[in-house]
Amino acid sequence: MDIIKVMSIVGTRPEAIKMAPLLRLLAQAEQVESVLCLTAQHREMLDQVLALFALHPQYDLDIMQPEQSLTHITARALEGLEKVMCREQPHLVLVQGDTTTTFAGALAAFYQRIAVGHVEAGLRTGEKYAPFPEEINRCLNSVIADLHFAPTTLARDNLLREGISPERIFVTGNTVIDALQTTVQPGYIFGNPALRELDFSARRVLLLETHRRENLGEPMRQSCEAIRRLLDDFPDTVLVFPMHKNPAVRRVAAARLEGHPRAVLLEPLDTLDFHNLMARSCLIFTDSGGIQEEAPSLGVPVIVLRAVTERPEAVDAGTAVLAGTDVDKIYETAARLLQDRAAYAQMARTANPYGDGRASERITQIIMDQAPYLLHAKRGSGNR
Ligand code: UD1
Ligand code: UDP
Repeated sequence: MDIIKVMSIVGTRPEAIKMAPLLRLLAQAEQVESVLCLTAQHREMLDQVLALFALHPQYDLDIMQPEQSLTHITARALEGLEKVMCREQPHLVLVQGDTTTTFAGALAAFYQRIAVGHVEAGLRTGEKYAPFPEEINRCLNSVIADLHFAPTTLARDNLLREGISPERIFVTGNTVIDALQTTVQPGYIFGNPALRELDFSARRVLLLETHRRENLGEPMRQSCEAIRRLLDDFPDTVLVFPMHKNPAVRRVAAARLEGHPRAVLLEPLDTLDFHNLMARSCLIFTDSGGIQEEAPSLGVPVIVLRAVTERPEAVDAGTAVLAGTDVDKIYETAARLLQDRAAYAQMARTANPYGDGRASERITQIIMDQAPYLLHAKRGSGNR
């Protein structure tokens, strides 16, 4: 049996969460040799996930710098990945999603003429700068990739419209749902002491997670201001905000929310705590991609702090609403849901537009089915 060597590249928290279930299956597949390389575009937030899912990378480029630029991430990742790829000579490089690590991973593989598999392919807003730089990272990945693992039929259709050949596109579901099925548990006891003390039966929890580059500064200030007003007007609510490590996020949070008696500002939560907190929240406010995908499975309404989303399935299913970053719009959207039981109940339905928990299984099988293409395609010997 010919062995397919698959190198997965992971840089940030969401990539690690979404690759974890797939990495577990690849490690178990007899036909696959699985190698994990971190760029470590994130550090603490990535290490949390590695520990939770017991992921043991063979390589760690450790590139993160405080308030790093996109150029820094791209240049350091490309340089480091070239050496690792030249040494390992994998048959397939797997990248996930839309981060700058993902783009650099695909580009580095292309320079070595290594086939690329893109997990979570085909998401689009159609707007160059929203989200920034993720929309363009996704488009560039689609140009480079050989195997496109689209989470939904909508994502597949986006790829078809861009001329990607249908036999290279596979609708698999999103691996984030695979991960979610292992983490949410009834009767879960939180690791975080502040969450252990929260009386979920007496308080309605507003959960906030915001970090998008295009929202840093004024848009984020407006989102935080809207939530401060909601806390003031709805005395049974409490805000929980596990703050992204980016200092630019923390500056806004500190200025707008710190000191409010019902604002609990925390370090990023371990994913087990975070998923179980989502499951017990009343409303989720976020510009995060992964959270938009997870919340519908948990039946918790999401107020999306963005004007456009590349994940419209939850909006179409009626479990998420786009509120943008205008203070009044966010306040009014949320206040209505907090006051009107029927409107809330209509949004708080469970839906699974992003997957059935078997995406990793499908991707693993497809990789094995593609063995003839991956093992025998002639791509040359690299750029050196
Ligand atoms: C990155 C991704 C974004 C993804 C997000 C997930 C890019 C361009 N952006 O954005 O698509 O949604 O991750 O969270 O790829 N920091 C730490 N410790 C950490 C992580 C970050 O201190 O563990 C701080 C550092 O100062 C770092 C800054 O946060 O420079 C920003 O990190 P970066 O990866 O550049 O951007 P994110 O906003 O995290
Ligand atoms: N998440 C987490 N701890 C937190 C906040 C989020 O584990 O404190 C998880 C969340 O459940 C989701 C993922 O992180 O699976 C989303 O990552 P992020 O919001 O950083 O990135 P995005 O999805 O926007 O790219």
